[in-house]
Amino acid sequence: MRYLTIALTKGRLALRTLDLLEQIGITCAEMRDENSRKLIFTNEELGIRFFLAKANDVPTYVEYGAADIGICGRDTILEEGRKLYEVIDLGFGKCRMCVCGPESAGELLKHHELIRVATKYPNIAKDYFYNRKHQTVEIIKLNGSIELAPLVGLSEVIVDIVETGSTLRENGLTVLEEICSLSARVIVNQVSMKRENERVGMLLKNLKALLAQNTP
Ligand code: PRP
Repeated sequence: MRYLTIALTKGRLALRTLDLLEQIGITCAEMRDENSRKLIFTNEELGIRFFLAKANDVPTYVEYGAADIGICGRDTILEEGRKLYEVIDLGFGKCRMCVCGPESAGELLKHHELIRVATKYPNIAKDYFYNRKHQTVEIIKLNGSIELAPLVGLSEVIVDIVETGSTLRENGLTVLEEICSLSARVIVNQVSMKRENERVGMLLKNLKALLAQNTP
């Protein structure tokens, strides 16, 4: 039988996902070994294999069918804009995509000034400013520690993920506008949804039942 392939996002998200999958009988103990450099893990008994990928690559593997199923944040799904089905909100990894900056940048936003926006999410930022706000801005792509940008004068504001808000607070920045809410999602390859209807369907059904049970 063909393996059903599941792509997980490296890091915290993968551990939370493994916890959930274990509860519906899909186990892969080998994957929890942090010292292992192995990339693919197989549960022969179930005919399932898992692999770990960088967040941004998970939708790519799923769109091309290299993975039937993927688990990643909604931020990545929106940013990558891949052709796939987003089927379940797992309810963890909750955070918000926001426009942030010093309090003073609020005025610049309000008056639709031509400002610079630093972000790891250029597509989300573009869509927000151009299509939703009809505001022309200059978007600057960065790869991390985005909060630095307004502090050193690279940009007036940033578009970034806010979870607890402590990174912003500790750096004298604040949320100026909220773009959308985020959490971990299950995505499915469009062909797998049909071809593997039985196995994918059962897995999704079990996951949904478990989530319903866990939500009071
Ligand atoms: C994310 C995000 C913020 C921070 C928000 O960064 O980009 O910097 O977490 O969390 P908080 O609201 O709880 O402070 P991450 O740690 O993923 O690293 P990065 O700077 O490389 O993006």
